[in-house]
Parts: sequence; structure tokens; C-alpha cells
Amino acid sequence: MLMKMNPLVSLLHLYDVVNTPGVTSDISHMDTGAVVRGFLGQQQLEDALIGMDLVIIPAGVPRKPGMTRDDLFNINAGIVKTLCEAIAKCCPKAIVNVISNPVNSTVPIAAEVFKRAGTYDPKRLLGVTMLDVVRANTFVAEVLGVDPRDVDVPVVGGHAGITILPLLSQIKPPCSFTPKEIEYLTGRIQNGGTEVVEAKAGAGSATLSMAYAAVKFADACLHALRGDAGIIECAYVASQVTELPFFASKVRLGRVGVEEILPLGPLNDYERESLEKAKKELAASIEKGISFIRK
Ligand code: LMR
Repeated sequence: MLMKMNPLVSLLHLYDVVNTPGVTSDISHMDTGAVVRGFLGQQQLEDALIGMDLVIIPAGVPRKPGMTRDDLFNINAGIVKTLCEAIAKCCPKAIVNVISNPVNSTVPIAAEVFKRAGTYDPKRLLGVTMLDVVRANTFVAEVLGVDPRDVDVPVVGGHAGITILPLLSQIKPPCSFTPKEIEYLTGRIQNGGTEVVEAKAGAGSATLSMAYAAVKFADACLHALRGDAGIIECAYVASQVTELPFFASKVRLGRVGVEEILPLGPLNDYERESLEKAKKELAASIEKGISFIRK
């Protein structure tokens, strides 16, 4: 529905293994410019993808209380693999936004699938970490007593627990926190997804704030695709910012996807220590994704 409302979308294809006819009929009555078509079941997957410039992948199962994102690996890895094989065949030049968890592993899975198919372009594959930024802006604004729209918190690393690294020392506009506030904010941002999973008590994970964040990110990609300049967002991408092959940081988006990966900037001692811990977990998640395809 949010993509149907986006003025930059001319053609919207909806694909799922259930429910697409109903959802498509429903949102097709909205008087916005995008033409919408629905595709149901794997036999229609390729038709759904042909001609697409941007593919958003939110597919898969959500967490239940007590689960980590990595506990979803066994089911979601195969789903992402299947979708990416079809993308490689039907729209190899599309920008791909991966939301399906565990993002720290599903982006490396997508990369391996594209490499095998000979279509891999690291600039076009982006893991969506926008919800971490959205949460960070919200929680920081609450502590500061300001409007969240006036706050910009860079969040780097990955999209799970301690791999989510908010750089509170680099917030715009500049501000400072007590050590207690830093502990609180870092923990709350890292556990934002779990907070929603627990509140939903078995009925899934964040869908509404995730949709908001996903569309915010997709909108940035669409603006970049049409040639708008100066679009900078955090995303989990193939990167040389650290020794790891994938890492989330600020990136400049352009017509071809990721045009530039921005450096991490100066980190304080707390952030440097947290980065070391994050990298350990991230390395294992990346390796797990890669070996899922290579084995
Ligand atoms: C989130 O951050 O809310 C999503 O990744 C879903 C989840 O399982 O936490």
C-alpha cells in the first residue's frame, strides 16, 4: 500500500505464495499513479520480476518470543535463494533491497546466488537497516526531548543484536549523553526488534514500522535511480570499511545503486569496543550465509 502511494512508482508488482489476488484488487482502487498487478505462487514468480527496476524482498517467517533473527535462517535462507535465482534470470540489473532476516546472512546469500549466475553487481545489492536508524532517531529524540525528524543517528554494523551499532558520538545535530544514557540508548536500539516481538507475544515481529522504514529506504533508492544527487542512507552492503566482506554504514546512492561507501568517521572508545564485538558476530553470520550456497 505504501509503495502504491509513492509517486515515483509507475508499475507495482506484488508477489507472494498466498493472498496476492485480494491485496492487489484492494490497493488497485487507490487513486494513485502506480498500476498494480498481482502474482501468486512460484509459477508466476518470473512474470512478477520481468522489467522491474527495484525489487524489495520482505519474504519469510517472523520471530516468536525467545528467538533470535538467526533462528529464522533455516527457512528464510531458502526463500531468499529462490527469489534471487529468479531475479538473476529476469531482472539482473534491478536494485535489490533485502529485508528478510537474518539480514546479516541473507545479503551474503543473495550475493553468492548472483555470483553463481554471473550477474553479481555489489552496487545493486542492499540490506535494509533503515529500521535501526528510524528507531535510533526516535529513541534519541525521546531522551533529548526534540522532534525525531530533527535527529540523524548513523547506525552501522549489521541488523541483529550487538551487530547493530548506533554511533551516538556522530549524531546530527551534535549532542552529548551521560554514560548511563549511552548504555540505555544503545541497548534499546539493539533490542528494538525484540521489544516488538515480545509485545506481539507470538503474533510476529515489527511489520508496520518495518514497512515505514522499508518504504523510506526504497524511496531513497528510487530518487537515486532517477538521478537525484546527495542521497545518503545507512545500508548493509559489500564493503571495505572493515575487513569484513559486508558491513552497514552510510552510503551515497546513485543511478547504479551504491555509488560511494562513506568512512565510519571518528569513533569513541565505547564505539570502538562495541565494533570489535559486532565484527565477531557479523563474521560468523556472513560465513553462514556464504557456505549455505557454496556447500
Ligand atoms: C526488526 O528489526 O524489527 C526486524 O528485523 C524483525 C525482527 O525479527 O526483529
